[in-house]
Amino acid sequence: MDHDAQMTDSSFPSDPAPEPEAAPEPETVSAPERTGPRVALFGLGTVGTAVAARLLDPAWAAGVVARGQAAPRLVGIADLDLDTDRGLLIPADVRQVTDYHELLDDEVDIVIELIGGSGVAGQAVLDALAAGKSVVTANKDLVARRGKELEEAAREAGQSLRFEAAVLAGVPVLGPLVDELSANEVGHIRGIFNGTTNYILSTMASDAREYADVLAEAQARGYAEADPVSDVEGWDAAYKLVILSRLAWGGWIDIEAVRRSAPAVGGESADGILGVKRSHMSVAARLGLVLKLVSRAERSGDLVHGAVTPMALKGDSRLGATSGVTNYVEFTAEPVGRVSMAGPGAGGPATSSAILADVLALGSGAGSTWGKLPPADGLELEDDLGGERGWLVVVEGLGEAGFSDGVKELALASTDEGFVSRPACLTAMTAKLGHFDRPITVYPVLADA
Ligand code: HSE
Repeated sequence: MDHDAQMTDSSFPSDPAPEPEAAPEPETVSAPERTGPRVALFGLGTVGTAVAARLLDPAWAAGVVARGQAAPRLVGIADLDLDTDRGLLIPADVRQVTDYHELLDDEVDIVIELIGGSGVAGQAVLDALAAGKSVVTANKDLVARRGKELEEAAREAGQSLRFEAAVLAGVPVLGPLVDELSANEVGHIRGIFNGTTNYILSTMASDAREYADVLAEAQARGYAEADPVSDVEGWDAAYKLVILSRLAWGGWIDIEAVRRSAPAVGGESADGILGVKRSHMSVAARLGLVLKLVSRAERSGDLVHGAVTPMALKGDSRLGATSGVTNYVEFTAEPVGRVSMAGPGAGGPATSSAILADVLALGSGAGSTWGKLPPADGLELEDDLGGERGWLVVVEGLGEAGFSDGVKELALASTDEGFVSRPACLTAMTAKLGHFDRPITVYPVLADA
């Protein structure tokens, strides 16, 4: 619309200004009959409020009906805090309770779990399934940590459990992986699964600022949580990798097996993006690289190799060019080749898109997110940093001393405080680096990003 308006203005600069028109009457949408499933919402935080707003919106319901589906009806809300004004006009016939058990009765068909965490939320999902409700959740922590248990409970209860919103929120990824890619053997999964860390790393690089400074700003603007641990330590991205792996390869990986730190040389390794410094980014940039928190997993026989760590990759590659809060995922599969998707991976509106689609899917008779896949067992994961590969090596404060000839032999490209190595295993390379008496940071290079 904006684009069209500008085109018109510049094409006809001498046209007289149009007569002002009377403001149109506000359009009223008559509420359609809601013949779809009766929904109870557990948890009225940011995402819960966005979901409730749409469920209560007659225009949204009318759109659903116009697209050939039955509009769901919000019949109950459970939250410990029912006093805060969230800007919702909740009709009197929508029950509001602080104890979710009160909503597990015959008046409810579907529970949307948005409590968060894996404790109370897990019990609520188990209780809902046992009470004969299908469940929709956006809770990646819960699904990744207790997926096997929840899957068994849903199958035993004969109820459906859907969790599209748990992975990349508004980017529809689980449905296509299970359905439209079902004729394929998935070889690898990788991408940028966390918007908060990608925003922080992108801003550190573009504005030459330090981590703490950018994090504080991201929190002030509401991009980052007040408690950012799950995002910045790589947990959130690891949860998504576990869920994608279950659907691609038929097993639940133990979340504790997912490596979340790049290797350390002569120091402590830091989880997630906690060890990434502005100075590292500047060395990377001089070598044509950017640093990104990359989630990846690759099937090899019965084993999956993968991790969630910062990696160095070309800035003009698909992963490298994914900036800000955008999420990106790609699958390499046979016979299709490489397939990728990108979009908004966080926030109320984007997450509500996937949650409501799951509710509509259940209303149309769809089953669980795992579709026709057989029950999952465990899946072994080993990290992927063991073999020969390229490394970005950053040696801070090297100054004029420069690199020795032995180290230079390792380098494919170098700058004053760092180099990109030839393919080498970490132990062989660090043996040659061992003589430095200053901090050394190494990042795995993602060569085919
Ligand atoms: N906090 C996450 C992110 C969104 O920043 O991507 C929810 O997984």
